[in-house]
Amino acid sequence: MWKVALALAGVLELTTAADTAVKVKWLEGAPKVNTGTTFGLPWARGEHLANATSFTASSGELQSWVTAYWPDGTIKWTGHAVPASEGTTDSYTVTASGPGNSTYSHLKRQTTNSSSIQVTDSSDEVVVNTGKITASFPKTGNLLVSSIKTSSGKTVGKNGRLILKSQSGVPEEGDASDINYFSFASRIYNATVSEENTVRALVTVQGIHQAESGSHKDWLPFTLRFYLYANSDAIRTVHTIVYDGEAKSDFISGLGIRFDVPLADEKLFDRHVRIAGTEGGILHEAVQGITGLRRDPGEAVRTAQYDGEKTPANSTWDTKTSTRLQWIPTWNDYRLTQLSADGFNIKKRTKVGQSWLKIPGGTRAGGLAYLGGATVGGLAVGLRDFWKKYPTSLDISNAATDDGSITIWLYSPSAEPMDLRPYHDGLGEDTYAKQLDALEITYEDYEDRYNTPYGIARTNEIFIYAFDSTPSADTLSALTNHTNEPPVLVADPEYIKKTRALGSYWNVAGAASNSSTEGPTIESHLDFLIQFYRNQIEQRRWYGFWDHGDIMHGYDTDRHQWKYDIGGYAWDNSELSPDLFFWNQFLRTGRADVYRLAEAQVRHGGEVDSYHLGNFTGLGTRHGVQHWGDSAKQVRISTPVYRKTFFYLSGGDERTGDLVHEALKAEQAFVLVDARRKVRDPSVIYKPDPTALYLNFGTDWAGVAAAYLLEWERRGPRWEEARDKLLETAKTYPKLKNGFVTGEALYNSEDGSWAPPPTDPNNNGTVVVSHLSAVFGVLETLDQLFEHYPDISKPFVDAWLDYCYYYGASKAEQAARYGKDFGTVNLRQGHARLTAYVANRRNNATLAQRAWNEFLNDNSADELSPDDPWATVKFNGSDVLTPVDEADWITTNAAALYGLGGLELLALT
Ligand SMILES: *[C@@H]1O[C@H](CO)[C@@H](O)[C@H](O)[C@H]1NC(C)=O
Ligand SMILES: *[C@@H]1O[C@H](CO)[C@@H](O)[C@H](O)[C@H]1NC(C)=O
Ligand SMILES: *[C@@H]1O[C@H](CO)[C@@H](O)[C@H](O)[C@H]1NC(C)=O
Ligand SMILES: *[C@@H]1O[C@H](CO)[C@@H](O)[C@H](O)[C@H]1NC(C)=O
Ligand SMILES: *[C@@H]1O[C@H](CO)[C@@H](O)[C@H](O)[C@H]1NC(C)=O
Ligand SMILES: *[C@@H]1O[C@H](CO)[C@@H](O)[C@H](O)[C@H]1NC(C)=O
Ligand SMILES: *[C@@H]1O[C@H](CO)[C@@H](O)[C@H](O)[C@H]1NC(C)=O
Ligand SMILES: *[C@@H]1O[C@H](CO)[C@@H](O)[C@H](O)[C@H]1NC(C)=O
Repeated sequence: MWKVALALAGVLELTTAADTAVKVKWLEGAPKVNTGTTFGLPWARGEHLANATSFTASSGELQSWVTAYWPDGTIKWTGHAVPASEGTTDSYTVTASGPGNSTYSHLKRQTTNSSSIQVTDSSDEVVVNTGKITASFPKTGNLLVSSIKTSSGKTVGKNGRLILKSQSGVPEEGDASDINYFSFASRIYNATVSEENTVRALVTVQGIHQAESGSHKDWLPFTLRFYLYANSDAIRTVHTIVYDGEAKSDFISGLGIRFDVPLADEKLFDRHVRIAGTEGGILHEAVQGITGLRRDPGEAVRTAQYDGEKTPANSTWDTKTSTRLQWIPTWNDYRLTQLSADGFNIKKRTKVGQSWLKIPGGTRAGGLAYLGGATVGGLAVGLRDFWKKYPTSLDISNAATDDGSITIWLYSPSAEPMDLRPYHDGLGEDTYAKQLDALEITYEDYEDRYNTPYGIARTNEIFIYAFDSTPSADTLSALTNHTNEPPVLVADPEYIKKTRALGSYWNVAGAASNSSTEGPTIESHLDFLIQFYRNQIEQRRWYGFWDHGDIMHGYDTDRHQWKYDIGGYAWDNSELSPDLFFWNQFLRTGRADVYRLAEAQVRHGGEVDSYHLGNFTGLGTRHGVQHWGDSAKQVRISTPVYRKTFFYLSGGDERTGDLVHEALKAEQAFVLVDARRKVRDPSVIYKPDPTALYLNFGTDWAGVAAAYLLEWERRGPRWEEARDKLLETAKTYPKLKNGFVTGEALYNSEDGSWAPPPTDPNNNGTVVVSHLSAVFGVLETLDQLFEHYPDISKPFVDAWLDYCYYYGASKAEQAARYGKDFGTVNLRQGHARLTAYVANRRNNATLAQRAWNEFLNDNSADELSPDDPWATVKFNGSDVLTPVDEADWITTNAAALYGLGGLELLALT
């Protein structure tokens, strides 16, 4: 066993103690609907042994598991699941008890309360019974969910399956004759179920889309995760696809999930269609309407149908109606189409071959549809962020037949086919010299074949709700809210801070403002920036299937427009870590609006801006007009440090967990992609080799280091290797004569050791300082590593503190220390947090002063200062397409650095 862990465990036995009670509360107040949820909690080092702690909740049943460990074997993070409940209170208390007895027994299972989840895992299917519903998940074939039954035995959903349509081209000159059309169904590779299933069961289904018509290879691999909670009639579904087509010949023209709803035993007039509209609105329709007719069946009958209740016996109807039902048309098909963030249409028809009839539409549909009957029950299916991820649609089909269906289209077949081709033809940029010259004007770093969508992914959340009978419209309205803002449980900022499980560089908002002169100003600026981006997302319509969750990078004052069409200034792709600003601002404030902003970004950056297949797996793409278009593929974009807060707060969101493992694969990508191929001195002979990768510590290594650290904390399958590599880096890196000032050196990805760069094989000492090295989460990653493992090599910590000190020091000090100064360094404001960090660690007030000076008096293009307007200007009328609030003094680089730097200075100085 590992020496250090043993030693620490020895200390623990003396110090381990009593219970820890932690309050968790709902992010947006007690929700109307609780279909069961999962959340995460941090624990301070040394308090609770993983193998001897049990958890209880004031709310009743709780399923608990460990998501991260401190190196001494105590718990760092846990995940917890609570079951569905009728009512909810604003907050709950989770209590960790133990160890109090150092005997290592298994983490106590929550067996006291009779759990209502039952799981059967047989050779051909997984069956989960929550007490309210039973869902079956086949392990082969093309059905994801073969049936959903209510506890009374009604099958209300069946044949849940994926649908994909694609075509080989788009009719650009009006000629569509040589285009091939394909349709695909899901083909399942495997379905597995979680081992521990007291309150929550997780069924994971992996597979690929297989051609049903037309000849096309299997493509678009998927992972669907179904989360089922005790006592719940809902299934939360996390749907991930990876694009593995050819942009020039694989145009997705529809991507959906469909469920059949058995209706055979229901009268046509007792079958109900409900579709969520705007502001809580619900469309009330019956397959055969008996309201508004020339002859009235009676008020009780009309009211029952409108309310979704069983109509009174036929004998009570006015016979003028009941004898003429055959003349009343039945509506078989409904289609809602949301082709933009601003409007949706709905239509219906009696059957194929007859005209569609328009139903009045609206602006932003809630994204939920219900089909069912008063007595046979039914199913509602909702897509989270439905309008924000347009083009989307909802179909209800065959409602007048024995088996109706609901289809949620994540990509609407009514939209133009999805076009992932490059937006320009290369502009003749066929050499590095030309590409670098083009970078001078559009700031785009182009290279043929690097502008590929091959390997990007998208994750969507879908909720499936089962009913014994048609629910009230109010219920469906509440479920529409639930679908779009699934309730979240979180601990207070004070508690999270105290555990030191997510870094030491932030503090709680109120405390910061009260204890520093700069506090109130900085706090108001941070609020301003959060509000500004929330407004810009809305005003500039940063929405769409691939775009939702990203923000823009640079602003064109002349056009009063973000530079959506200008090379490297368009989509931000996490440049300079706005993610860390947003997440840390959430941690310190606990504010729901900040959480939702950061959450959307988590689901974007790690998916769309990063690669999951092919040569670039584990890397992300630099900012650009298309999220995947730029040729700079680096782990600085895919770094899991951006998603770490979400991962742990969500109780270990499994999809985010996958992304951490993908980031580990950047080690292989470094061999295939030389990040500095265009800019390296041609005299340097460098052939990428896994044992000698020429990497920058900040833009390359820090991203894998964040992944190693998470793997170590999680005790994932590669945790020992990940730990050993980090410790080997800590041992060998300080041997570089100039430490972090070396900038780029040779990294051995097989053991984590570093060697001098090829330009300085004798380690005489080189000075390569880039303003980019420390602005992609390296400080935050290193601090989390130091917090995690305080016994880390001291020279390593000192080397980092030296870098923090000298980056902003005078040229004379730099030269005195390294034999040469750093030249002109940029992003001083962004680096003020490094100065603050070393000031804090060395307890040096003079340095803290220097940090504030750097923060407040940068005066360059990429900074914000108290002298900026901190206000927006309205433009409307013919100046702009639509009215906008402009702040042309903001770039997203500056906002990210000011935001993150400001909150870190408040905490560190
Ligand atoms: C818990 O106990 C199991 C079985 O004895 C052991 O394999 C595991 O390493 C222990 N975990 C911790 C964190 O001590
Ligand atoms: C710890 O608990 C175990 C099992 O209940 C018991 O056998 C053991 O004596 C206890 N040890 C101490 C030190 O209390
Ligand atoms: C499911 O199948 C995929 C594709 O073959 C494979 O990569 C994955 O490891 C399998 N998962 C399980 C749990 O067997
Ligand atoms: C309802 O009753 C009328 C007679 O009053 C009968 O003609 C009709 O078939 C019945 N309809 C249904 C759907 O039972
Ligand atoms: C849904 O959310 C909206 C906006 O937050 C709120 O006004 C409405 O009352 C909610 N509806 C229900 C049924 O909870
Ligand atoms: C992947 O990398 C290999 C090795 O460098 C190269 O031959 C191949 O062309 C690359 N594939 C793509 C799609 O770029
Ligand atoms: C590095 O130092 C060695 C001896 O210590 C010397 O021979 C060599 O010339 C130096 N190289 C450079 C590039 O200064
Ligand atoms: C604190 O930092 C200042 C400014 O760099 C430096 O001159 C001074 O020596 C430091 N003080 C201590 C005690 O290290």
